[in-house]
Parts: sequence; structure tokens; C-alpha cells
Amino acid sequence: MKHLSFLICFFILLGACSPKKGESRDAEMDRFVNNLMKQMTLDEKTGQLNLPAAGDITTGQTESSDIASKIKEGKVGGLFNIKGVEKIREVQRLAVEESRLKIPLLFGMDVIHGYETVFPIPLGLSCSWDLQAIEQSARIAATEASADGICWTFSPMVDLCRDARWGRIAEGSGEDPFLGGEIAKAMVRGYQGDDLSLQNTIMACVKHFALYGASESGRDYNTVDMSHVRMFNEYMLPYQAAVDAGAGSIMASFNEIDGVPATANKWLLTDVLRNRWGFNGFVVSDYTGISEMIAHGIGDFKTVSARALDAGLDMDMVSEGLLTTLPESLKEGKITEDQIDAACRRILEAKYKLGLFSDPYRYCDKTRSESEIYTTEHRAIARHIAAESFVLLKNDKQTLPLKKQGTIAVIGPLADAGLNMAGTWSVAAKLDEITGLVEGLKEVAGDKARIFYAKGSNLTADAELEKNATALGRGLIRDNRPERVIIDEALQIAQRSDVIVAALGESSEMSGESSSRTDIKIPDTQQNLLKALVQTGKPVVLVLFTGRPLALVWEHENVPAILNTWFGGSETAYAIADVLFGDTNPSGKLTTSFPQNTGQVPIFYNHKNTGRPLEEGKWFQKFRSNYLDVSNEPLYPFGYGMSYTTFSYGDIQLSSTTLDPSGELTASVVVTNTGTTTGKEIVQFYIRDLVGSITRPVKELKGFEKVGLEPGESKTVTFKITPESLKFYNYDLKYDYEPGDFAVMIGANSRDVQTAQFSLK
Ligand code: BGC
Repeated sequence: MKHLSFLICFFILLGACSPKKGESRDAEMDRFVNNLMKQMTLDEKTGQLNLPAAGDITTGQTESSDIASKIKEGKVGGLFNIKGVEKIREVQRLAVEESRLKIPLLFGMDVIHGYETVFPIPLGLSCSWDLQAIEQSARIAATEASADGICWTFSPMVDLCRDARWGRIAEGSGEDPFLGGEIAKAMVRGYQGDDLSLQNTIMACVKHFALYGASESGRDYNTVDMSHVRMFNEYMLPYQAAVDAGAGSIMASFNEIDGVPATANKWLLTDVLRNRWGFNGFVVSDYTGISEMIAHGIGDFKTVSARALDAGLDMDMVSEGLLTTLPESLKEGKITEDQIDAACRRILEAKYKLGLFSDPYRYCDKTRSESEIYTTEHRAIARHIAAESFVLLKNDKQTLPLKKQGTIAVIGPLADAGLNMAGTWSVAAKLDEITGLVEGLKEVAGDKARIFYAKGSNLTADAELEKNATALGRGLIRDNRPERVIIDEALQIAQRSDVIVAALGESSEMSGESSSRTDIKIPDTQQNLLKALVQTGKPVVLVLFTGRPLALVWEHENVPAILNTWFGGSETAYAIADVLFGDTNPSGKLTTSFPQNTGQVPIFYNHKNTGRPLEEGKWFQKFRSNYLDVSNEPLYPFGYGMSYTTFSYGDIQLSSTTLDPSGELTASVVVTNTGTTTGKEIVQFYIRDLVGSITRPVKELKGFEKVGLEPGESKTVTFKITPESLKFYNYDLKYDYEPGDFAVMIGANSRDVQTAQFSLK
């Protein structure tokens, strides 16, 4: 009987879903949603706005959970972070067979840098500067997630960040708005493809809107306060790029903007997002973002929930404020039914676009989940992409690549911690299957080299700090012997080796959410270990794991080779082996500046000049903008990264030194591989607007190209400049260009550039 009524209702819905001759897809959707909404009660409408976490549901128990009752009552619009195609099918069945209107649920998840096949953390991924590879990683993530029941991901995270103290810098694409925007578009394309209703595409959710990466003091969830000129010229660009790329949903951020939390900020969610940018998807709060506004101090539960809806927020993650308080706010005239309808409509539209009304089990195909997840092919691509994300920071006397011969000591708390390599936000990862570095090196070296391992140190000397930094475990077990004993054990192994690979840095949980740090160094006890290893006089290669820029002055001065590997995902160990042994030539470049010390933070290449800049080449000048104790320069600038080969740059050739408002000009440079190894170079193109109606940054990235070159080979790399590419938001927030002189800079990183000049008429 139950099944019969489901079928009848489903076919009624489907009937409303089938296109009328000549009807556009949007018109079809409107007709379908109008028809459905006419049948909905107020409670069913607010039910669609509700997104609980699926915490307590396990397979076989879906019927008895508290969430199950709510689903059957039509009080749930979607669920998130529930894994497994069978479980999702069971829960979806409750919605489409046991609720009155049979409206399917959305199933969301934090699929951030891969699903079971994990790619590098987003900050690492961005250092590949390879938009195709980044898109491909998102495509694979979508393929795997959609094969396992997921149709919606809380990604990409496009928060621009210039503060390495903030743990969530790991989740974004670094400090540059242009590169951040290009990556945001690539991710949205990768997840959503051209057609969201296909079985293997999922809806993106751009987060965290907005400006979350500028939390004061780098402390998570902290206040943001920023001029509108900076906002629009810098921080807003990646969100806007993702909206332009057609992202289906947006997540409001935890922070306040202009004194109003983003979750209830009408200017942000309606004036900017919908009216200025034309966004027509739906907006979801972040986890308990609605109820947190009570602590922000802008009202009680009912007030903040009404304010969120009024601001333009459509879906409530976890708080249940929209579900439980809107009917009363409606009676009191604080909100209107039209506002509830608008939010409900947007959620239903998302479900429609995903094809859930035509087939609610579209993403629950067991054959796909058995054959399309964590495949050999996906893992091979993850290995390749991981190697592309690594950044070679230093390589004296060709310490790298290593030869596959002799004896290699692999030492450090992160040397044998495969679980830890997935990095932050890898909720669906097959953690137990991730190979640790020692094993990976052994496999790749085969019987050609002997590889020994010692732990050498704990993660941190302070046991309490280590506990906080490994709360989720992830393969790091504390050794309670005295520090000296652990180091001495490692030194014995080091003495017997030809070369030492020191696997040090942060645990995966030292970056990511709620993982801010005030002293961004390699932790103390690991530094002691590193110093002892260097003192042996053997060549030391520092394989660095980190989710943020670290201050590495001592390491830079004393360790011959440093390879920054971030957290490379499922295949990290093999990718590191590929690079260490020279099977892959590293080509990644930093998308975030590495400071000399924490006090320089926030530090970024695209800063303003000030009225008292240092003179070129000067370190300190009295009454100039600088510090007494350290130069203004970062240790490693934005765009920096080495290769096993070398590249030279010719002079910039401009097609003209003047640009007409309707014209374009080109800037070209010849890049040559001057070394003996095939390699890839990321050629970077910057512009400085020399005089403006408001002050302009000293450099802005406007283009880049990753070119592969054989030894001795040269290529001409050309960048186009149009007036459009010179536009910025002026004091009145008008987006326009201004005539005048511009410097063009092309080079291997943001510091080492050739310069030319042109004028815009
Ligand atoms: C994070 C989001 C995430 C959400 C759901 C929040 O704590 O800020 O980035 O998508 O949880 O897991």
C-alpha cells in the first residue's frame, strides 16, 4: 500500500516534471516548482530550509533515528556528511516514500580535495598553478562522491588569506585574487560540469561568503573589518568568479562584516550577491551559523533566525532556527510568507537542477559506487597532481634529486604517518590505506637503495599541545621516552647513512578549522632533531609537511635541500618518492608568501607602497615603513619555487608602448631551459598601475602560463593586455580603468621580474 501511494505520488510529481512541448528548461522548472509549492504547508516549506547533520544515522537504523521522524514529517531539506550509497538510499527512501509530498533530500558533504581518492590540500593544489589538473581533481572528486550518493559538496573554499596564523589558510588558494578566481572557476567546472543533472556531476557550494580569510589576528571565527575598496578589489574576486562560473550554492561565513554577521548581512547576501552579481542559487549558513548570532550579540534565537531569512539566507545548517521559529516570526509580521517561499523555491530548484525529482536515487547506483571510487586510474592521477603541488624551496649543490642507491635514513615524526598525509578535511578518505613515506620510498627505490627509519622526535615537546594537534589521531602516537633518547636513536641510524631525509613539520590537524597558531615554526622538538641531523655533516633533505607558510629562516640557512610537500593526499608518499628520486622534476610555486617570522604576518606581495616606502635594496631606513629587527622581505615570495633545471628570461617585448581604450597590446618574453633536465616553468605576468585615483598595489598578478621545456629549448610566452584587464573598483566602487602609465613585469616569481612600461590613453 505504502509503495503504491509512493508510486502514485511520484508519478504525479514526475508528470509535473515532464516538459511541455517548446518549453525551456527554466520554464519547465518554474512550472514544476510552482505546482509543488501550491501543495505545501507552511511547515513543509520551512522543512525544506532545514539541513541537519546526519550524525546519528547508521545503516539499518535509519527508521528509528530522530532525524528519520523529521524526514517523514517533511521537516528536512537535506542531510550532510553521511557516507555510503546504501545508507543514503535508505534515508532518501524515507523522504520519497514516507513523507507526504515525497520531496527528495539533498545529500551534502565536505568533499574538499577529493573523496576517497584524496588530492593535495587546496593550498597545495593551488601551487601547481595547473588549472586543468585542478579541474580534473574536482571532476574526479565529483565522480566518486556522486557514485556514493552525494550530490552536493561544500567546496570550493575560495577565501583569500594573507595570514599564515589562520589554520584555514590550508583550505584556500593563497593570497592572490586573480589566481584565486581562476582556481575557483576551475573547481566549479570540475564539480558541476556542463550539466548538473548528469549522474556524475555534483553541485558546488562556494564558501565562506565572505572575507572569512581575513579574521583578525588569524584567530578562527574572529571578526573581520575591511574597507569596501579592499574588499571589492581583492577579497571578493574569487567568490564573484565562482558565481560567474555558475556555482549552484553559496555558504555564508561565520564572521561579521561591517558589524553584521555574514549569515544575517542583507547587504552581503542580497545587495551584493543577488543584485550586483546576479546569483540565482541558494545560500546555506555554515554549521550553527544562525544560532551563533546569539553569541555575536544581535538577538535571541527567533530574532537571529528571522534576520537570516530577511537577509537572503535560504538554508539553515544544524541550528534549526528557520524550521522552528519562522512560523511565529511570520505571525508577528517580522518576515513575510513571500520570503519563506523564495527560500523554499531556491532549494527546490536546486533539487530540480540536480535531477532529483526525476530520479531521487540518481546518485545511488551501487554498481557505480563499486567501480568508480578509489580506482587505480584516480590514484595514478592523484600521484601525478601531488607531485605537481610540491614546491622545491632550496636545493644547494644539487643535493636533490637523490640517486636510487646506497643508504637513506628517513627520520622524523611524519616519516611513518600515512594517515596524516591526507591533510585537513578528508572526511571520506581511506585513511588506513595511505602509505607512509618510508614505505613509499622503499617501494619506489626497490632493491636499489636501503632505507632505514627512526622517529627521531615527537610532534611537539609539549604533550598537551601535541594532544590538541592530534585530536583526531591520524597516525601520530606519542613516544614518552626523553627527547635526547629519541634523538640519539635517530642519530645512530643517520650515522650509518649516505643521506638523511628529515620528514618534519605540522601534523595535518595543525592547520584547517580551529587550528590557528601564533608561532608558525616547525615545532621545537623537531627543530632540535633537525639541528642534530645537520650536525652529522651528512646531506640533509627536509621534506616539509605543512598546511600553512612556516617561518623557516634557520632551515633555509642550514639545510641544503627543502621540499615543501604540504599534505599531498592519498598518494603523497609515492609522489614524494617520484620527486626525491628525480622521476618527476618539481615545478610547483608558492601561492602564499613565506615570512621570515610570525611578526611579519600578514605579509603578501600585492601590498600598497605607502607614503614612506624603503628605497630599493635598503634593509632599514629611519622614518620609513619597515621594522627594526627584520627586513620587509618574505623569506620566500609569492610565486617562488625551484626546479632541478634552470630557466632564463629574455627582455620583455611590448607590441606597443601605448594602449587605446578599444585596443589591446601584448607583452612577450622568451623563456629558455638553461639546465640539463626537462622541466616546467610557471611564467608570471604582473601589472602595476603607477598612478590612480586611489592607491594601487605595487604588483598584481594578471596572467601566468606553465610551460614545459626540454634542455636548451626556448619558448616565447605572450600575455595580452586590454583596458578591461586594467579595471579596478574606485573610491565609489565603480569598476573602471583610468588612463595613465602602467608597469608590466614578467618573471619567475613576484620578486624576480623584468619590467617594461606602457601608457593607457
Ligand atoms: C565549516 C565548513 C563546513 C561545515 C560542514 C563548518 O564548521 O566551517 O567549512 O563545510 O562545517 O561540515
